[in-house]
Amino acid sequence: SHKLALDRDCMTLSRHVLKQFQDFSPEAQDLSALMSRIALAAKLIARRLTRAGLMDDALGFTGQTNVQGEAVKKMDVYANQVFISVFEQSGLVCRLASEEMEKPYHIPENCPIGRYTLLYDPIDGSSNLDVNINVGSIFAIRRQSDPDIDETGQDLLQSGRGQIAAGYVLYGPSTMLIYSIGTGVHAFTLDPTLGEFVLSNENIRVPEHGPIYSVNEGNFWQWDESIRDYIRYVHRHEGYTARYGGALVGDFHRILFQGGVFLYPGTVKKPEGKLRLLYESAPLAFLIEQAGGRASNGTQDILDVVPDQVHARTPLIIGSTEDVALVESFIRERQ
Ligand code: AHG
Ligand code: MN
Ligand code: MN
Ligand code: MN
Repeated sequence: SHKLALDRDCMTLSRHVLKQFQDFSPEAQDLSALMSRIALAAKLIARRLTRAGLMDDALGFTGQTNVQGEAVKKMDVYANQVFISVFEQSGLVCRLASEEMEKPYHIPENCPIGRYTLLYDPIDGSSNLDVNINVGSIFAIRRQSDPDIDETGQDLLQSGRGQIAAGYVLYGPSTMLIYSIGTGVHAFTLDPTLGEFVLSNENIRVPEHGPIYSVNEGNFWQWDESIRDYIRYVHRHEGYTARYGGALVGDFHRILFQGGVFLYPGTVKKPEGKLRLLYESAPLAFLIEQAGGRASNGTQDILDVVPDQVHARTPLIIGSTEDVALVESFIRERQ
């Protein structure tokens, strides 16, 4: 019917956020405005990704090394700057913390200061950039309580329970934005002809169990024996299939929709694993719990982990409740 078509075309992200609040409180307006800024950043990044192969200076490395010790790609820098640019004059945030910045970026004095902090991974899966495989952006929003924030971001060292919104953008065959403000998980698909993210999936629930296990088996001999035991189990049992795309956002998205488990365990050299808590694991843990799944570091819920520094890493096991529990049972056996 016409109504349905009209509704579908017009259920935009900012309208959906207001609908989730069922009121027009200042916080509802703030979150709606924050999400539409995230959407703008996503569109700017998606546009450059689509054209990158035809431009002179969009792909490849900058020659710099970031605080993570990683070789920085031009797209990492571009995407990091896009988030700063769309939020700088927004009057919504007072600070932005990102994988690509050693210390948080503070909104300049001459700009309107907001009450929120944005934590983000501007490009997740950078190793996929030069081979045209999907990458993502991950974000979390926290309320900035006390006015005096120091420049180190020490006040950000709290558990993921303090997140008021989280989500990610998946730059794939279509560009999708998935978010939650604590009232379920909702997916939007960018309609390039409208320049709008249009609601495509509402109240997504992750299956209790799924066939997928997603892990980089190249690290097999670096893991704890308990993780090797788990992998031997799935190798031996029917009904499991391996999918690993090299970008957390893409691997997570598949599990959110089809069930299963993604794991990036600690290794002998890096017991804390590779993935960062504040802008990778905690936002996705917020989402997976909202979708009826679980996220653990092996012994504790990710959302209860308190980091000791802004770029703290954590082992990550995330996905269907039954599959996360199975991995944890192997870990407990060996404790
Ligand atoms: P980023 O590109 O933001 O640094 O994140 C890369 C992460 C994550 O996206 C992915 O799951 C993981 O690195 C892949 O690591 P391996 O190449 O070691 O498997
Ligand atoms: Mn990186
Ligand atoms: Mn990442
Ligand atoms: Mn990144």
